[in-house]
Amino acid sequence: MSTAYAHFLNHTGRPIHKSTHYFLAYERHFSPFINRPLTFLEIGAGNGGSSEYWKAYFGPLARIVTLDINPACKEFEDEQVFVRIGDQSDPGFLQSVIDEFGAFDIVLDDGSHMMPHVKASFDYLYPRMSKNGVYMVEDMHTAYWEEYGGGLKSQASFVERFKDFIDDINVRFIRDNNGSVQGLDGAYCLSIYESILVIERSSFINGKMTLLGDSQRRVNLNAS
Ligand SMILES: C[S@@+](CC[C@H](N)C(=O)[O-])C[C@H]1O[C@@H](n2cnc3c(N)ncnc32)[C@H](O)[C@@H]1O
Repeated sequence: MSTAYAHFLNHTGRPIHKSTHYFLAYERHFSPFINRPLTFLEIGAGNGGSSEYWKAYFGPLARIVTLDINPACKEFEDEQVFVRIGDQSDPGFLQSVIDEFGAFDIVLDDGSHMMPHVKASFDYLYPRMSKNGVYMVEDMHTAYWEEYGGGLKSQASFVERFKDFIDDINVRFIRDNNGSVQGLDGAYCLSIYESILVIERSSFINGKMTLLGDSQRRVNLNAS
């Protein structure tokens, strides 16, 4: 099986628009799903090339679901590719898609990249996706741009929100938690790339601390 980037370079169908270094993140987080049963959601159909790409990348067991606000995108429907028209920030629309396809194993947000939309999609889809899934948001350079509702250190920015997720995944260790840190359901790994944010979930995390080895060979750690 070739890599995500090789697949991209071999793409000859409808136009697809991706930054080259994104393929490192795709390969790292998505390759375990290749040739596995998969319900994949991409927000943002663009010109239809990405759904063709994902279908070829993931293989015959994948259902590729794409959401877009533009009704013209309906024509991208194909074997294994399902296009639904609506607004990524509309919970009613998102629920109708979940009702139809079930919980998504991967969500890739490549939609409007507007902060309120990114947040609304995340807030609705993340808790309802597969407990062992991956949520990825790309083009998050827009989180630094005012015209997308962002800005450096702005509370409206999804990057700022993502920084809080670091506290969320460590919630059980926070001694002075006044209730403001709630935890992020099932999240066990956060990854940050230029312009890309990733949250990986697991339905089970073994967080037990274990000391192994010959106890006679311990040194006094408080000696100095
Ligand atoms: C960056 S393009 C997607 C590119 C495509 N994924 C690719 O890789 O080639 C963004 C898409 O998001 C769609 N979009 C913009 N606002 C949206 C919204 N509020 N809800 C759903 N889709 C939206 C646009 O119509 C456009 O097709």
